[in-house]
Amino acid sequence: MSKVAVRGTLLDCISNPWDCAQEKQALRFIPDGVLVVEDGKIVESGASSEILVKHPEAQVEDFSGYLIVPGFVDVHLHYAQTRIIGSFGRQLLEWLQTYTFPEELKFTSKDYADEVAAVFFQEMFKNGTTTVQSFATTHPNSVVAFFEEARRQGALALCGLTGIDREGTAPDAYRDTPQGFYDGSKELLERFHQVDRCLYSIAPRFAFGSTHEQLKMAGRLAEEHPDCWIQTHLSENPAEVASVLEFFPDCQDYLGVYEKYGLVRKRFVAGHSIYLSEDEFRRMGDADASVAFCPASNLFLGSGFFQWDRANHFGVRWGLGCDSGGGNTLSALRTLDDAYKVGMLQVVTSDREKDEESLRLSASKALYAATLGSARCLDLEQEIGNFEKGKWADFVILDTGGSSVLEFRKNGARPSDSLEDACHQFFGMMMLWVPEVIRATFCKGRRVFG
Ligand code: GUN
Ligand code: ZN
Repeated sequence: MSKVAVRGTLLDCISNPWDCAQEKQALRFIPDGVLVVEDGKIVESGASSEILVKHPEAQVEDFSGYLIVPGFVDVHLHYAQTRIIGSFGRQLLEWLQTYTFPEELKFTSKDYADEVAAVFFQEMFKNGTTTVQSFATTHPNSVVAFFEEARRQGALALCGLTGIDREGTAPDAYRDTPQGFYDGSKELLERFHQVDRCLYSIAPRFAFGSTHEQLKMAGRLAEEHPDCWIQTHLSENPAEVASVLEFFPDCQDYLGVYEKYGLVRKRFVAGHSIYLSEDEFRRMGDADASVAFCPASNLFLGSGFFQWDRANHFGVRWGLGCDSGGGNTLSALRTLDDAYKVGMLQVVTSDREKDEESLRLSASKALYAATLGSARCLDLEQEIGNFEKGKWADFVILDTGGSSVLEFRKNGARPSDSLEDACHQFFGMMMLWVPEVIRATFCKGRRVFG
C-alpha cells in the first residue's frame, strides 16, 4: 500500500488525565499536524512543517480545519442486538426475555448473522468506532459471521461464543450446555484468535445464566488460553445480583463467583459493575481486571450508576461500552454524553464520600475514556488508542461544526486555534452530537466511512 499523509488538527492522549497534576498534560495537540500511514500503521506523526518534507512521496489527504482523533474503542456491546436497539419499557431481566433472546435466536441462521454483522460494522464506522469487543449468541454461526465481517473490514474485533445454560434463565432453544460451550469456544478460538485483527474473548454471559458446570468450562478455557480475553456481565441490576447470590451460596459476593472459577485476571472485562462493594473493587484492582462502563445502557435499562471515582481509587482500569442494544446508541460520543451526566448526577445523589473532581468528565477525560483508556482496559495499548508510531492507523475525522448550533457555539474559532478551543469543541460534539460530526473514519489506514 502506498504512503499517505493525513493532514489536520491532531488530538490524542499520551497518558491518563486522572493521573496528571494538570489534566491537559495528558493530551498531545498538534494544530497543523500530519499522520503518515503505510501498510495500515502509523509511520510517524507531528507538525506538518516538519513531517511533510521527510515524506515527499506521500500522497496528502487534506483535512485542514477538521479535528483528527484516534478511532473510538468500544469495550462492550452486543452486535446481535442491533435490530432491537431502543426497545421500550423493561429492566434487565425482563428486557432479556421480552426482546433479546427472541432476536438472538434468529442467529441459528448464518445468513441472518451475516446480514446483521454487515450492518453493524457499517454503523460502527459511521460513529467513528474502529475497535469493538462484542458478545455474539450461543450459536457458533454468530461468531463466524462477526469475525468474517471484521476481517473483510479490517476492524480490530474481539468476540466469542456466548455461554448460557441455566434452566429458566433463557428459552430452552437458546440455552447451550457446558460441553457445547467448551467445544464450540475451542473450535472458534482455534479458527479465529490472532487471525488478522481478530481476538478471541471467552464469553460466559453472566453468572445469573451459567451453572457451576459451565463456569468451570469457562475457567478451563481461560486457563488453557491465558492470552485470550474474558468478557461477561457483573453486578448490573439488583434483581440479578440477588439471584446470583442465591445460585452460588458459597460465594461471598458476585465477583466471588467469577473468582471461584479462575476468571478474574488481566484481560477479564466485566460489563457494568454498578453494585460492587469496596472489597470487590479492591479485588478487581489487585487482579488487574477491568470494567466496561456502559452509561447509555445503565440509564436506558434503569440499572444504576457506575462509580468510576471508586474504580480509579482502587486502580481498576475501565473503558467505555455502548452496550447496544441495552444501550440506546451505537455512538461513542453519545455514550460520553450519558457518562458525563452520570458523573454530574453522582455529585448530588450519592451520599458516600466521593471525588467530585474525578466525576467531572472533561473533554480530555472523555477522549481518554473512549480511546487510550479503553485500549488499556483491553490490554491493547501497544496497538491502538493514540497516534504513537507503529500503532494501527485507526482514526476519525471530526467536523466540530457538524450542526448549525455546534457551528454557532464555536464562536468563530477553529479547532486548530488552541488546545482550549479543540477541547471546547470536542466537548460540544459529545453534548450536541449529530451524525454529521463524523466526517470520515479510517481503519488500518483505509477509509471505511465518509
Ligand atoms: N446481562 C446478560 N446479558 C445481557 C445483555 O445482553 N445486555 C445487558 N445489558 N446485560 C446483560
Ligand atoms: Zn452487555
